[in-house]
Amino acid sequence: MGNSSSKRKSAIVNNYMDFFSAKDPSLPTDERMQLGSHIIRELWGENFSSPIKDLLKKGGATVLDVGCGTGTWMFDLAADYQKSSYVGVDMVRLFPAGTEPFNVKFVNGNVLNGLPFEDGTFDFVHVQFLVFDIKEADWESIVYKELVRVLKPGGWLEISEPEFRCSKVGEVTQKFITAGTKRFSSMGVNIHIASRHLEIMSGISELTSIHHQERGYPLNKWQGKLAETGRKYMRETCGNLMQNIHGDMKIKKKKIDEMMDEMVEEWKVYEPFINIHRFFGRKLM
Ligand SMILES: C[S@@+](CC[C@H](N)C(=O)[O-])C[C@H]1O[C@@H](n2cnc3c(N)ncnc32)[C@H](O)[C@@H]1O
Repeated sequence: MGNSSSKRKSAIVNNYMDFFSAKDPSLPTDERMQLGSHIIRELWGENFSSPIKDLLKKGGATVLDVGCGTGTWMFDLAADYQKSSYVGVDMVRLFPAGTEPFNVKFVNGNVLNGLPFEDGTFDFVHVQFLVFDIKEADWESIVYKELVRVLKPGGWLEISEPEFRCSKVGEVTQKFITAGTKRFSSMGVNIHIASRHLEIMSGISELTSIHHQERGYPLNKWQGKLAETGRKYMRETCGNLMQNIHGDMKIKKKKIDEMMDEMVEEWKVYEPFINIHRFFGRKLM
């Protein structure tokens, strides 16, 4: 565990330079990722939107999850559709070693260096929450090309990403959104990339039947359990992302945690929604 935790830290620091906190957040990474997957499933009532249920049920289908993290998404599918097989690829091993079901496998790999699979290997390729990890230019020039390359003709590609343009926010929340957008943008990362996926996908000649779905997830106090889970998830995610942004915001580092708490209080007063987007399309036969 010590080994995987230090590998994870070095990958994070390499990835985001000094942006991410190297200190462990209060909620462990695996629980935070599980919460994210849980929220998406709650919103849609299903782990995916592509029309592949029958194929998965019938068995023999091959599924790839790129940037699989702890593998929560795949574990769910592997339990629901046991006759198909699942591969998770990630540049960091967060995947629990030795506990994976018989139909799930982890492969270490960085999508930016090319996915370690032959052309046309998978029936379904899935990506979820890579918004902070991939530079805007790399989505088009590398990532999409790789995702489509490893898909079989007739296979489906699905991408789920949040968009952080909250409908109504308070002053502290807005300060974090502005500072975060600016800082990520200086690293080439567009945190509003969700608003570009449809256009990017539509421009790929090998893809057809492209769909876009959107669900708002509430962070306000009147929406019960989902809002509570959402606040916890967002507090942890923002806390992790923003620890090192105090310099940009011209405030002392220890003030960040205080402001994070104020931000969560604002969410109870205002009624912000974060939009989660799903894009899916089919590779031409
Ligand atoms: C925010 S997590 C999302 C994990 C998972 N998809 C989920 O929804 O819970 C992003 C994951 O992508 C991985 N990742 C980031 N950049 C990557 C790259 N270039 N190639 C492969 N994995 C990458 C990270 O290591 C991390 O596990």
